[in-house]
Amino acid sequence: MSRVLVLNGPNLGRLGSREPDVYGAQDLSALRVLLSEKAATGTEIDLRQTDDEAELIGWLHEAVDTETPVILNPAAFTHYSYALRDAAKLVTAAGIPLIEVHISNPHARETFRHTSVISAVATGVIAGFGFDSYVLALSAVGRG
Ligand code: DQA
Repeated sequence: MSRVLVLNGPNLGRLGSREPDVYGAQDLSALRVLLSEKAATGTEIDLRQTDDEAELIGWLHEAVDTETPVILNPAAFTHYSYALRDAAKLVTAAGIPLIEVHISNPHARETFRHTSVISAVATGVIAGFGFDSYVLALSAVGRG
């Protein structure tokens, strides 16, 4: 069994009720079901969410130590967390894929969302396709 870490940052635990016009009406458990259906045989989807920057950084360290590919929606941390960026760089510098994903297209939204401090250290970025951003990322890490 191979594993993919699907890590979600702050306020994504509120999906389903949070700005459904932007993020859709489905919650993280629906995302977990969708990704499990789309995952290649023998691939375990380990989907987690936290509002805590330190916890998210700890999960990226775990990805390095266990050589596990990462699909990361850093949520608002995208725009300002240099600590998360440094942790993401540890992952890709170790040769482990890390795909930055967004449900919405941040470039079509407020100006502060146009900057990502993560993108330059990510393997790639997929944004604007709703939950399909994660499905495309699964494919990008070769586990879709
Ligand atoms: C988001 C976009 C971010 O700007 C925002 O802070 C989020 C979600 C997205 O998935 O579209 O929380 O990462």
